[in-house]
Amino acid sequence: MTSWTPNSWRALPIEQTPVYRDQGALAEVENQLAGFPPLVFAGEARNLKRQLAEVAAGRAFLLQGGDCAESFNEHSADNIRDFFRVFLQMSVVMTFAAGSPVVKLGRIAGQFAKPRSAPVEKKDGVELPSYRGDIINDIDFTATGREPDPQRQLLAYRQSAATLNLIRAFAAGGFANLENAHRWMLGFVKNSPQSERYQKLADQITETLGFMRAIGLDPEHHPELRQTEFYTSHEALLLCYEQALTRIDSTSGNYYATSGHMLWIGDRTRQENCAHVEFMRGIKNPIGLKCGPSLTPDGLLRLIEALDPDNDPGRLTLICRFGADKIRDALPPLVRAVTREGRQIVWSCDPMHGNTVSAAGYKTRPFDQIMSEIRNFFAVHQAEGTYAGGIHLEMTGKDVTECTGGARAISQDDLRARYHTYCDPRLNAEQAIEVAFLVAELLKAERLARGTVEQHAAE
Ligand code: PEP
Ligand code: CO
Repeated sequence: MTSWTPNSWRALPIEQTPVYRDQGALAEVENQLAGFPPLVFAGEARNLKRQLAEVAAGRAFLLQGGDCAESFNEHSADNIRDFFRVFLQMSVVMTFAAGSPVVKLGRIAGQFAKPRSAPVEKKDGVELPSYRGDIINDIDFTATGREPDPQRQLLAYRQSAATLNLIRAFAAGGFANLENAHRWMLGFVKNSPQSERYQKLADQITETLGFMRAIGLDPEHHPELRQTEFYTSHEALLLCYEQALTRIDSTSGNYYATSGHMLWIGDRTRQENCAHVEFMRGIKNPIGLKCGPSLTPDGLLRLIEALDPDNDPGRLTLICRFGADKIRDALPPLVRAVTREGRQIVWSCDPMHGNTVSAAGYKTRPFDQIMSEIRNFFAVHQAEGTYAGGIHLEMTGKDVTECTGGARAISQDDLRARYHTYCDPRLNAEQAIEVAFLVAELLKAERLARGTVEQHAAE
């Protein structure tokens, strides 16, 4: 392979990239970004990679989630707080059920660029460029709004910095206290129409925390119980922005993207020998690769070789998004190829992007289909003797009506009530916590099955 530089991607074919009319203005913005402080630092990305290596080894579980697309309009402390609160509740439930750490990775503080299936959108006979995320153009259906504007990259950078600042404060400043997360979770269980199903696990956590407190393990005396580690991630779609924020780390001498801790390659931009794969192979952050139905086992192995030539555990997370009905056929051949080659990657399940349907004029996702893909993901890994390492969700802390179903049985007619997403439909707060409780059942079953195997081995 040829040598890598932060701009070697520019010589290769590229998909899903905006055409900026004013190249001078774009260059000026890239220049400014290149002089701005990094949003994250390389040591943090390495810590995340180490935690993901634990996932690859089957000793931790990955929870990745957040908006499909962050927006400039919905940038408020309440949104960030509500999201973070839901995320913590989910991770408490899952940590307890799995009996192992949960790696917390938000789709946040940088998730602004969107790949689109069509380059243009038509409305009432008018054709305009598609909306590509707030970092590129405006969701308003007007000619000026849809024109890619490089200044938006500066706004996205500033918003990411402000969001990350608040998240860091929440994570370290006491808000993430384990007993808080537990109390919020109990509130959820009490109000859920499915509360009976969730009560037992909730009670077990309550008892455990009571026991911990009794022996002196309380948040007042143990900082690790009032803090948490939380990382950020987004799709590395807009490469000029990513390049401008890529820096040499003085400790290791390696290049790191500093726009977020983990970046991933989308299902529409993972072509071999093309720009996105080229850029991502040179940065040392942990990275993700979306795997959809068109990916073949050989194609996947070639991508793994390009992106993780050293077979470095924690470097690569394969985020599978096939659809509830396709995963049973599509995933096993990939798992077998990866296992045969001895590749130490993380398997994660994105049950959102393969289950999008249209209903009542909206894009939506049925809760049951989402759960069905997750169940099938666990079943395939159990059958193949591999480890179901994580889930990747589009979710919000708000009470939106974008996905149908769940304990409150959101119907197609309900969608119009609070359909706020800028791109794909997200699980609302209740639905997201429900997913966590249902995944907890799967994690517990997996833990018990493994315990039995280990016990037999010891006998
Ligand atoms: C996304 O994660 O929002 C996305 C566009 O996913 P994919 O690349 O898997 O289609
Ligand atoms: Co999406």
